[in-house]
Amino acid sequence: MGECTGHGDLDVGSRGVGRSGPRRMEDQSDRNSREGQGPGRKDVVKPSTIEIVKATAPVLKEHGQEITQRMYEIAFEARPDLRPFFGKTWMQGPEEGRKQAARLAGSVYAYALHIDELEKLSKAIDHIAQVHVEAKIIPEMYPPIGECLLAAMKDVLGDAATPEVLDAWEEAYGALAEICIDREREIYREQERALFEVERSRVA
Ligand code: HEM
Repeated sequence: MGECTGHGDLDVGSRGVGRSGPRRMEDQSDRNSREGQGPGRKDVVKPSTIEIVKATAPVLKEHGQEITQRMYEIAFEARPDLRPFFGKTWMQGPEEGRKQAARLAGSVYAYALHIDELEKLSKAIDHIAQVHVEAKIIPEMYPPIGECLLAAMKDVLGDAATPEVLDAWEEAYGALAEICIDREREIYREQERALFEVERSRVA
């Protein structure tokens, strides 16, 4: 049985970083030259992680729906406060919930396929970010969901979810969370600015 405390132990996704998303980890001198930007940037994905994540794509194609379905089960058990955010899906009933699980499975699979060519995902990420902002998702929600995703992978894949696979996915999820959070932050800011302009035009 996988565990999911819902307390965000993965520590992903709460810092603002550039929009470029995960990149292969540069050599040490590159890393050192970025000192001052803080250690352990989560948008930098190790080459070995890319390799492992890509290798899991066929398994995710086959079991993705089962994994994300289980993920939501674990998540709503650990964090019932997150369920109401799924107003257009899980709150409508299990059938809509299953469709949401399928959409998430599709995006996780696409990420596994294209983790090293993220430009292919930029439209999809933009769409997800728009939907997240509409649902009022905030950065702090990403770590608990990431934990539950890993717990679900463990449950569904059993022995195939080796420590190496789980470590790689922990890192990869963190990087994807960073990209989504970053884009969502931008959209929230754009909305704030638009609201400000409306208010200003009313008094001008
Ligand atoms: C990297 C992590 C995540 C990915 C890849 C992801 C992916 C997706 C996708 C593909 C959709 C469907 C978009 C559509 O309707 O076409 C979606 C919707 C949604 N996601 Fe995420 N998501 C992530 C993290 C989260 C987190 C942390 C939360 C927080 C609880 C969340 C909450 C939602 C909600 C509420 C919806 C809309 C469903 C509804 O309105 O009922 N997602 N996400």
